[in-house]
Amino acid sequence: MKQFPEHFWWGAATSGPQSEGRFHKKHANVFDYFYDQEPEKFFNQVGPDTASNFYNSYAEDLAMMRSIGMNSVRTSIQWTRLIDDFETNTVDEAGAAFYNQVIDEILANGMIPVMNLHHFDLPVELYQKYGGWESKKVVELFAGFAETCFRLFGDRVKYWTTHNEPMVVVEGEYLYQFHYPNLVDGKKGVQVAYNLNLASAKAIERFKKLALPEAQIGIVLNLTPTYAASDKPSDQEAARIAELWNNKLFLEPAIHGHFPEELEALLAEDGVLWESTREEKQTIRENTIDFLGVNYYHPNRVQAPDIAPNSVGEWLPNRYYDEYNLPGRRVNRDRGWEIYPEAMYDIAKNIQENYRNIPWYVSENGMGVSNEERFMDDQGVIQDDYRIAFVHDHLSWLHKGIAEGSNCFGYHMWTPIDCWSWLNAYKNRYGFIANDIHTQIKTVKKSGHWFKTVAESNQLGAIK
Ligand code: BG6
Repeated sequence: MKQFPEHFWWGAATSGPQSEGRFHKKHANVFDYFYDQEPEKFFNQVGPDTASNFYNSYAEDLAMMRSIGMNSVRTSIQWTRLIDDFETNTVDEAGAAFYNQVIDEILANGMIPVMNLHHFDLPVELYQKYGGWESKKVVELFAGFAETCFRLFGDRVKYWTTHNEPMVVVEGEYLYQFHYPNLVDGKKGVQVAYNLNLASAKAIERFKKLALPEAQIGIVLNLTPTYAASDKPSDQEAARIAELWNNKLFLEPAIHGHFPEELEALLAEDGVLWESTREEKQTIRENTIDFLGVNYYHPNRVQAPDIAPNSVGEWLPNRYYDEYNLPGRRVNRDRGWEIYPEAMYDIAKNIQENYRNIPWYVSENGMGVSNEERFMDDQGVIQDDYRIAFVHDHLSWLHKGIAEGSNCFGYHMWTPIDCWSWLNAYKNRYGFIANDIHTQIKTVKKSGHWFKTVAESNQLGAIK
C-alpha cells in the first residue's frame, strides 16, 4: 500500500466554459464566438451551449462528486458570465448569484473549492476591441476582473489560480490554429506569452493587497517534460530550447519572478522579443505564486529539426525542434497522446530541485477515450479499466516523488463529469462520471468507484 500525505487533495477539475453551458450568459467568449461562426470545425458540430448542464444541475453534480470520495474540486469563473461591462467591471447579479451558489454548495459538500480565473475564455469583445491578450489594456482589465472575484468570493474561496495553461492560448490562438482567432504569428504569440505572465502577476498583486485571511494564489501550467530523442548534441540542444519555450517561459516568472535569460537572448536575436517595461518586470518579480498546479497528460519528445532553423519563413518556436515519436511507445490512440506515467516522478523532482520545492499539486491528469459505451456492462456501468490503470500508474510515480521529498499536496483528475472539450467537443470522454449528452443523465464509471476507495483510504494499492 502506498500511503499519501495527510490532508491530501483527492479531486477533479473542470472549467466554466466546458461544463456550465451558456444558459443566461450575456456575453460570448472566444470559443462561444468561434462556434457561432464556424460550427463545422467542432466535432459533430456540438458547441458549448449545453455542455454538461452544470449551470442547472450543479447541486446534483457536486453531490455526485462528493459521493466518489472527492474532497476538493476546481472550476473556473467565466469572465463572460460574471461581468456585465468589461470596462467598468459591473457585476452581473445573476452571474454572481450562480457562482455564490456553486461555492456554497462545494463547501456544503465538505469539499475545498479551487477557483480559476481564465481557462481559454477571453471575452471576444476584448479581442475585437483591443486584440485580446496582445494588448496591455486587456491585462489591466483582467486584473480588475480578478480583484472583483477576490472581493466577491474571497471570504470562502481560499485557493485561487490566475490562468489555466496559458501556453495553450499562445499555441492555439497564435501558432497552431486551434483557438479563435487561429492566427499564425509567432511575434504576436511571444508578446501574448509575456502579457499572460504579466496579467498573472498583476492579478496576484491585487490579491496580495486585499490580504484575504488564509488565502493562497497560484497558476496552473501544463508541464510537459521534454525528453531528447538521443544523447547527440543536436537533439540535446533541441530539447534545451523546447524546454525553455514550453515550460520555463511560464514556470520561471511564476516561481522565480523573472524570465529565463537564455530565452530572452534567443528571442532578441530572432527579432521577436516582447515589449516590456522595467516597471512591469518589477511587478512580475514581486508577485510570484504561493502554489503551483501542474497539468500533465503526455511527454514532449523532441529531436533536432529536419530543416535549418534559419530557413526562410514565419518565425515559430518549433523551428528549433521536431516532434519525435518513440518507437514502441504506449499511446491513447483516441487522443493521440503518448502514455508515460514516469514523467510524474520527473515533474516532482524538477519542482523539488529547481523550483524551491514549492507546494504543488497535480491539477489535471487524465485520459480521453471515444465511444465509451462500448465498455458498458449490463448494469449500465462503463468498465473503464484502462482509466484505472492510467491513474494508478501516474499515482505510483507521483508517490515515489513525494516519498523522496517533493512537496505535492494533491491529485486532481481531468475531469469529474464528462465535459465539453473545445474542438473535440464530446468526442473523447475524460470523466469519472459519464454524461449522456442527449438526456444529461450522469452515471458513475468503474473508475469513479475505484477512485473513492483510493481517496477515502488515502492509499494506493495494487489494482485487481
Ligand atoms: C487541458 C485543458 O489541456 O486538457 C482542458 O485544461 C482540456 O481544458 C483537457 O479539456 C483535455 O484536452 P482536450 O483537448 O482533449 O480537451
